[in-house]
Amino acid sequence: MSLPTLRLPERLAGPLAAGHPWVYRDHVPGRPTLPDGAWVRVEAGRTAAVGLWAAEGAIAVRTLRRAPTGGPLAPPDRAWVEAAVARALDARRSVASADTDAYRLLFGEGDGLPGITVDRYGRFAVIKTYADGYRRAGSEAHALLALVVRALAGALRLKGVLAAPQDGAPLTALHGELPPPEVTVHEHGLAFVANLHEGQKTGLFLDHRDHRATVRDLAAGRTVANLFAYSGAFSVYALAGGARRAVDVDVAAAALRDAERNAAANAGRYPDAATDPRGRHATLALDLLTDPAAALRHPDLAGSDLIVLDPPSLARHKGQRHAALRAYRRLNAAAMAALPDGGLLATASCTAQVAPEAFRGALAEAAAEAGVDARVLHESGHAADHPVPLAFPEGRYLKFVVVRVDRPR
Ligand SMILES: C[S@@+](CC[C@H](N)C(=O)[O-])C[C@H]1O[C@@H](n2cnc3c(N)ncnc32)[C@H](O)[C@@H]1O
Repeated sequence: MSLPTLRLPERLAGPLAAGHPWVYRDHVPGRPTLPDGAWVRVEAGRTAAVGLWAAEGAIAVRTLRRAPTGGPLAPPDRAWVEAAVARALDARRSVASADTDAYRLLFGEGDGLPGITVDRYGRFAVIKTYADGYRRAGSEAHALLALVVRALAGALRLKGVLAAPQDGAPLTALHGELPPPEVTVHEHGLAFVANLHEGQKTGLFLDHRDHRATVRDLAAGRTVANLFAYSGAFSVYALAGGARRAVDVDVAAAALRDAERNAAANAGRYPDAATDPRGRHATLALDLLTDPAAALRHPDLAGSDLIVLDPPSLARHKGQRHAALRAYRRLNAAAMAALPDGGLLATASCTAQVAPEAFRGALAEAAAEAGVDARVLHESGHAADHPVPLAFPEGRYLKFVVVRVDRPR
């Protein structure tokens, strides 16, 4: 099969050879008009790669397979896709267990299948695609996605492989059956309701599983304000770790209804199971972005000495990076100022445009603004089900830092 070949600038030879999976449109010479979702060959220096062309967007080519320029290089076939899926499953051996049946099965670029994420919710796998070509029936990208579906269905005992609701299209079964309106899944032995038909992301924010476990380990005896709570998963872990009380705050009332159910459903797993969980958990529908300091003065949050802060992504593109850093500074300063001496702030950022060092910098500025001493007790990012190629810094979107706040003496 002879593919259209794009010769890239020499400066891309290093990243291409190292396995960087994207070619930005700005770096493609000329303005090739190729079908969306078609295989192309790119070359830089002595490396060639095959990838999928995207007709729109900042990323023109997502590469899957590379080789020295002189050698043979064909687009991935069924055996190649099966091997990629098998490798991804092997990488998750430390994650999947009887206690944890919800996790990311494929993390796109991190598993060699750029633009395709797959989350597992018990016996269902939910696929989300980040390039239109995958959803364009008849394209080569669409055929590749069909191979991924087939490989997943062959490797795992699944009831259904689903396409996530996207662009107004509902949840669709690509293999097997659709799930019921809600499925119950488990993380570290705790139970959560996931609505795969309507949930944000694909149902739960699976990327915080280990961060929630960190909060559980720090929560004993503490009073928790879980800000940007979604369905309250951080609070469930905190209560399981012996927190006195947890309040979930989010602007989305529907998510808070799930939070109430998740908190109650796990009550038997809290250390003091005999205590009525209703007295220990509450929800609060509030906008936290407009004036976070005022929101934190709400009487229901008084006495919180462990604040979890997990806002949505605050930048869509590079141009919004500075505004995002200002927002992180403001949110974290408000949280630090609200904490008592010895309080803990578990703070996250899922903004890909904000690198870990820049996020830590914003936290240091927040501490100065709040007039507190702040020490990092814990820092982490991606778990084993969210692998990131070393040569692909753009893939490292998640940051999680636990800070202890003390008043200067
Ligand atoms: C990254 S998610 C939080 C995930 C959650 N921590 C978990 O572990 O499941 C961000 C949340 O912020 C909420 N949100 C977005 N804008 C908000 C605002 N202005 N005020 C309060 N919550 C907001 C969304 O509804 C969403 O639930």
